[in-house]
Amino acid sequence: MFTKISFRGKLAGIARLRAPSPLLARTSVESTIRARLSSNYSTKVHPSNETLASFSMKNRVVVVTGAAAGLGKTFAKAFLESGCTSLAIVDVNKEGLLKAATELATAHKDADVQPYTCDVSAEDEVQETFRNIAARWGTIHSLVTSAGIAESIPAMEYPTSKLKRIFETNVYGSFFCAREAAKHMIGARTPGTIVLIASIAANTVATPQPQALYSASKAAVKQLTASLAVEWAPNQIRVNALSPGYMATEMVKAIGGAQPALMDKWIDLTPARRIGDPEDLKGAVVYLASDASRFTTGTELRVDGGYSVV
Ligand SMILES: NC(=O)c1ccc[n+]([C@@H]2O[C@H](COP(=O)([O-])OP(=O)(O)OC[C@H]3O[C@@H](n4cnc5c(N)ncnc54)[C@H](O)[C@@H]3O)[C@@H](O)[C@H]2O)c1
Repeated sequence: MFTKISFRGKLAGIARLRAPSPLLARTSVESTIRARLSSNYSTKVHPSNETLASFSMKNRVVVVTGAAAGLGKTFAKAFLESGCTSLAIVDVNKEGLLKAATELATAHKDADVQPYTCDVSAEDEVQETFRNIAARWGTIHSLVTSAGIAESIPAMEYPTSKLKRIFETNVYGSFFCAREAAKHMIGARTPGTIVLIASIAANTVATPQPQALYSASKAAVKQLTASLAVEWAPNQIRVNALSPGYMATEMVKAIGGAQPALMDKWIDLTPARRIGDPEDLKGAVVYLASDASRFTTGTELRVDGGYSVV
């Protein structure tokens, strides 16, 4: 555990980490997340369906990548809850994807939820997938690129193969999907929205874990967002980035689980004093994908409990 608890910038000493057993680590991570989600902060939302009509995703064909798990699956849920009835979910994990599709379709019987197995880093697979999606529904209105990988490896030890893989997935994968979606939007003369999932790591150095390549890949995604927004604005395609802070998904547990004191450190560095719940991102992703944000393009929306402003 940490011997010193303080906000970033005010740290007076170096925290010491103790490595627990793997079983203890997992239990500790789960209980830390649960405790931080439930006790420190209310995650209850107002139980009403009344909202601005401009947030509606009705009559929109929406594509979410990385939707077999984690944030992508929550984004898919958010669109269905916001009226979307034509939803394509894309992931490289076929088994997880089929499970997610069944779960989502069961909860939203009026919706057509279609799974597409695809490795977003493979350009030909992405092209075929988006061709199939456009063929099914005629066009594409919105894309969210949540497929991504993270890893914590010291720079001096970073294998070149892994370095390439993280850029192929996070940067090229986001770009291939954005470009194919834009091609179909332009071809069908459909105004569209693209939300690229970046990270707080695009702006700040995530510490204390070594993550240089992940951070660099997310900074690239943020700049891609701005550049594509300018390039495609004449085609009425808006491109924005959503940058989450530390959220409770398998990605974060995989890194935090190996060294659970990290979780306490991340919480300590976050003014909201908790790890984010994927549900915390629902409003932001629907805002950026819907008409509610119709004059917003090229920007980055940070949803991080205040992490990046301290
Ligand atoms: N969880 C966080 O704290 C956090 C914070 C900031 C940004 N993000 C970003 O949000 C996105 C989603 O993260 P998550 O926490 O849900 O991760 P996750 O590991 O829980 O889910 C990622 C999903 O992407 C899929 N995927 C991975 N590589 C793929 C590929 N090549 N092709 C297709 N699908 C692929 C995985 O199978 C998985 O279903 C990532 O881009 C991540 O970098 C996450």
